[in-house]
Amino acid sequence: MAVLPVVTYPDPVLRQRCKEVIAFDASLHKLLDDMGETMAAAEGIGLAANQVGDLRRLFLMNVPVDENTTTGLLEVINPRVVAKRGEVRFEEGCLSFPSVYEFVVRANEIELHYQDRSGAAQKLICRGIVAICVQHEFDHLEGITFLDRLSPLKRQLALRDYDRKNREALDDKAFRAKARARRSPPQQIS
Ligand code: CO
Repeated sequence: MAVLPVVTYPDPVLRQRCKEVIAFDASLHKLLDDMGETMAAAEGIGLAANQVGDLRRLFLMNVPVDENTTTGLLEVINPRVVAKRGEVRFEEGCLSFPSVYEFVVRANEIELHYQDRSGAAQKLICRGIVAICVQHEFDHLEGITFLDRLSPLKRQLALRDYDRKNREALDDKAFRAKARARRSPPQQIS
């Protein structure tokens, strides 16, 4: 197993539509295992395949339901949302947009059909944060990010904020590297 690098905006792979999984083989199982490790390392509650640069149609979730319970690790392959009910507004984040949090409106209850890692058909009826996470991850597989669910003005402001924060993070990295270089001149190794 391996922790994979998580792709961040504006990488074009986030705009790509993931393709139906046909082979439920060792390569699929390796991807699922690596994504599980990646999601845990990043402390994410959901991760779609294109967020690690793979275009297979699948995502992982492990969502807290209350203080003590999570859904456990769900591996969702070839998902279809067959029913949606109600509406909920929730502040979402995304591993591909570090430090951006925005309120998004989604269905409060959904019925999801999918396949597990063996190819067996599964069904999940979920509501609240679990339903929100399913819709967020399902969007990723369609090449849609949570900022696409905002009004054009809100999206523009969120992206401006994202650019600024990332520039600051990069500047900070460069600054720290320079400071380190000043502190410790190259050592002579003899
Ligand atoms: Co996301």
